[in-house]
Amino acid sequence: MNAIYLIGFMGAGKTSVSRKLAEALTVTHFDTDLEIVEAAGKSINDIFASDGEAKFREIESAVLKTMPQYDAVIATGGGVVLAEENRRQMRSNGTVIFLYAEIGEILQRLEGDHSRPLLHENKLEAAQSLYSSRLPLYRQTAHYEIDTTSKSVSEIVKEIIVSMN
Ligand code: S3P
Repeated sequence: MNAIYLIGFMGAGKTSVSRKLAEALTVTHFDTDLEIVEAAGKSINDIFASDGEAKFREIESAVLKTMPQYDAVIATGGGVVLAEENRRQMRSNGTVIFLYAEIGEILQRLEGDHSRPLLHENKLEAAQSLYSSRLPLYRQTAHYEIDTTSKSVSEIVKEIIVSMN
């Protein structure tokens, strides 16, 4: 099986869906955010604060290159699609699934979350403008789009499996 990449905005459910999907398909699970934290030896907040977003993106692209091409489900960070090389790599090395959720639901899911540096200030405006600028990038990168709005993790996993068959 080709590697499956889950892409989408923060709070779209990539992490929880990827774990369940990997379990259902009995393949290995990866999460590029976790790999980045491991590679840098510090949290994502600390990378942004001490090294800046550009450095974070550099590590993110480097980590992406180390991901396997087969038998894996890979959860990515919401900004992975910003770099053209990342978009090209995911599309040609695997099957890319965009987990779509409405912005209102995303904001609800992210309520009280402090782990995402891009949303620390002006949460609402920041999230809305990032969301609209990234939507076209998710869509142009993905082979499949799944609407996750109001769905449970197991419903989403089933839908992904059906859509790929
Ligand atoms: C980011 C999303 C985060 C993480 C970092 C930057 C983004 O991942 O990579 O905070 O630019 O959207 P999640 O999408 O898993 O929250």
